[in-house]
Amino acid sequence: MRKQIWLAAVLAIFLAVGTVYAGKISMELGRDLFNDPELAGSTNESSCNSCHAGGKGLENAAANKKLSKLVNRCLVDKMAGEKMDGRKASMRSLKMYIKSLQN
Ligand code: HEC
Repeated sequence: MRKQIWLAAVLAIFLAVGTVYAGKISMELGRDLFNDPELAGSTNESSCNSCHAGGKGLENAAANKKLSKLVNRCLVDKMAGEKMDGRKASMRSLKMYIKSLQN
């Protein structure tokens, strides 16, 4: 009996964490964020798409293991925004979309 309660508790924690970090990963969200000039508090008029339309300049990015870091560099340096958490659904969706642009 005790064991079942522990298992249920562990499962609940996994579900809760999963909802926060993996809940809404989608290509559509990634595309919306890529085109959003206000992404991550960006205060200038540019979105990712302003400079990387159709994946321009991102040809080698999909294979890069530090993709989150590269994205965050542009967010801060080119868009005057804030870094995004690489584990969150927003960044993971953005990366998914960037990878889809390679094909
Ligand atoms: C004002 C133009 C501009 C904006 C806006 C911009 N970038 Fe960039 N990005 C660049 C330039 C230029 C480079 C080349 C490296 C450098 O100059 O820093 C680059 C490099 C990159 C790279 C690395 C590519 C590689 O293979 O090394 C990635 C990934 C990237 N940008 C993603 C994004 C994403 C995602 C956004 C939106 C959050 C974004 N960029 C917004 C201009 C921009």
